[in-house]
Amino acid sequence: KSAGGLLKLDLETSSRPISLGGKRAYLLGYNGQVPAPRLEAQAGDTVRIRFTNNLTQPTNLHYHGLHVTPVGNADNAFLDIPPKESLTYEFTIPKNHPSGTFWYHPHRHGYVAEQVFAGLAGLFIIRGELDEILEIQAAKEEFLVLQDFALDRNGSIQSPNHMDMMMGREGELLTVNGQIKPTFSIASGGLLRLRFLNASPSRFYRLALENHPFYLIATDGGALAEPVELKELLLAPGERAEMLVRGEREPKQYRLLNLPYNRGGMEMMEDEMGMMGGGSSHMMGGKSQVNPQILATLTYQGSTSTLPLPKQLIPVETLPEPKTVRRLELSMEEEMTPGTGMSFTFNGKAFDPNRINTQVKLNTVEDWELVNVDPDRMDHPFHLHVNPFQVISRNGEPEPYRAWKDTILVRGGETVRIRIPFRDFSGKTVYHCHVLDHEDLGMMGIVNIRA
Ligand code: C2O
Ligand code: CU
Ligand code: CU
Repeated sequence: KSAGGLLKLDLETSSRPISLGGKRAYLLGYNGQVPAPRLEAQAGDTVRIRFTNNLTQPTNLHYHGLHVTPVGNADNAFLDIPPKESLTYEFTIPKNHPSGTFWYHPHRHGYVAEQVFAGLAGLFIIRGELDEILEIQAAKEEFLVLQDFALDRNGSIQSPNHMDMMMGREGELLTVNGQIKPTFSIASGGLLRLRFLNASPSRFYRLALENHPFYLIATDGGALAEPVELKELLLAPGERAEMLVRGEREPKQYRLLNLPYNRGGMEMMEDEMGMMGGGSSHMMGGKSQVNPQILATLTYQGSTSTLPLPKQLIPVETLPEPKTVRRLELSMEEEMTPGTGMSFTFNGKAFDPNRINTQVKLNTVEDWELVNVDPDRMDHPFHLHVNPFQVISRNGEPEPYRAWKDTILVRGGETVRIRIPFRDFSGKTVYHCHVLDHEDLGMMGIVNIRA
């Protein structure tokens, strides 16, 4: 399909039982699928999606990571589509939009974690430059959508308790493309392109191939300048990454592992345990993962001649020095009175749809210092709509390579400095924590880009 084309489809949310690992699961799907159908477009294309809400709750669609106008319904952080109603989304992907791995999911404030945890998420691929590099073209391409679920005996989604909401809900059932431990084969030639999306509302994935390196070629916003060899890759909720895997001559199996990761919040957990009357170590053992889990297996028949890795990918521009530097504190405030809630905040303020938190000017570059001051030292992945950014430093240490991001992990106690070019579009949009329970509980702010 040539650029300037039209991507047209009908999408509807529905709840219908889906088979997960041979068991019936009552999830929510777009057109009955978990994960949702993969959409593909090119820079310059117009996207027209007729969307119908068949849920019993309000919802909407958000196209995560796309550089599209926040005006109209393209980015739509604020739309409300009530049950039984429909809306036609229409927007154009700019001609110079990078190729990459983007995605879509509901974004109706207050319901986001619940709806994403029920399975509502799908890939939105923009094809372009990266796909045209010869070595990348020669590689076999696989998409891996990572989702976790918590089901009860009847296959219904477990409802979260207070602590699940504070930490962000997680499930024990780990799936890749809606399957448990699937197998991917590496074609002869030995080059495999894995395109990962963490579509879990709160779970982090610390990915590794058993005893085998892999090569990062793209992050949230598109390609790196050259492949970077990694031993492991941490994907926070909302993040994407593309990796190349190279099979050696001999036939082999490589297991894709999810290694244990501590995303903080332990102090809070201990407090909670204290309030509930002790037994802390026992209860904490139930939640925290100690052993690697197998997510998938890559099988390889071996080959006499193997394909080379690309030497160069796509240059990543150097952004000019910022005109403005801002500080954004990420935190949580817990009301200790039993039965009351907690709120997650930016600069001490929980989300208010009528407040503009940050005013910026179109065609300027800003540095934002994201400072995680959470008293429980919980990790918070920060996400900004519409304008991708680059990470400049983490706790003062410069980043090892330049990359386009739209979601970036800010660990407990950390300061991450990002550089954002506000380009092409004026209007109001949002930033928020991509642990979606935190977003629903207030960790979202409005940024107004003035022309
Ligand atoms: Cu993936 Cu505002 O979200
Ligand atoms: Cu988004
Ligand atoms: Cu958070």
